[in-house]
Amino acid sequence: MSETTSTQDRKKVTTLTFLRKKSKNQPITMLTAYDYATALAIDRAGIDSILVGDSLGMVVLGYENTLPVTMEDMIHHCKAVARGAHYALLIGDMPFMSYQASVDEAVQNAGRFLKEGGMDAVKLEGGRERLPAIEAIISAGIPVQGHLGLTPQSVHLLGGFRAQGKTAVAARKLIEDAHALQDAGCFSLVLETIPARLARVLSERLEIPTIGIGAGVGCDGQVLVTHDLLGLFDRFTPRFVKKYVELHNQMEEAFKAYRTDVETRAFPAEEHEVEMPDEEWEELIKELGT
Ligand code: KIV
Repeated sequence: MSETTSTQDRKKVTTLTFLRKKSKNQPITMLTAYDYATALAIDRAGIDSILVGDSLGMVVLGYENTLPVTMEDMIHHCKAVARGAHYALLIGDMPFMSYQASVDEAVQNAGRFLKEGGMDAVKLEGGRERLPAIEAIISAGIPVQGHLGLTPQSVHLLGGFRAQGKTAVAARKLIEDAHALQDAGCFSLVLETIPARLARVLSERLEIPTIGIGAGVGCDGQVLVTHDLLGLFDRFTPRFVKKYVELHNQMEEAFKAYRTDVETRAFPAEEHEVEMPDEEWEELIKELGT
């Protein structure tokens, strides 16, 4: 077991743990969560970090993309996750238009993730165009994780959920953005849906850890959307997802079985009933005269 998964002597994961793991070539594990029960299970499994992703909008709230997610949505779900997880590094994902319009707003909103949401750090999408916001947030004492490649909040600008960095020009821009984010003080970088060999080179060149999603095994760590891993989100499954279980089907089967039980009066059974002492019952029956 690694230093963060040991059941004895378990320590809270910090941004320094991320850096230490990179220096020791130990893969960093990260998953998304949006509620108390899932956060508790992820934390108990010894996962290093929990991202309260704005993927919330798609996998929990049922939107077509992440754009409608609000700060209030995020804070609400961050609070639930923070109640369930005590060891993982908690990262709150800044939603669309919470950091793009002004640096002041970006700092205020980032602060809410720590003050109200119980998070340890924030994540935001974008490259050099986000440097003023990133620098100001870090100056306020808030750790920032960058996010490059397929940045879902720019889905319309990118022309859909499509892989990025596939040309030499695009890859060079991505490398320059990654170095700029590192120089600005980001403690790590999510790389989403970019060629595996580009992600590997970037991970080798950067001092801060890269966390890949659809970016191959050469990253310093991996993140998946938990609903994808559990087979809970059945609208589509990106190619890079590994489903560890098909919970959606299992849930549907369980709900059907419950429906049948209720309709056939097989549930509730005697063991699910609350008993009343016989003498109390007799007294009541006498009173009721039945
Ligand atoms: O919102 C999210 O879940 C994310 C991950 C896909 C990295 O940003």
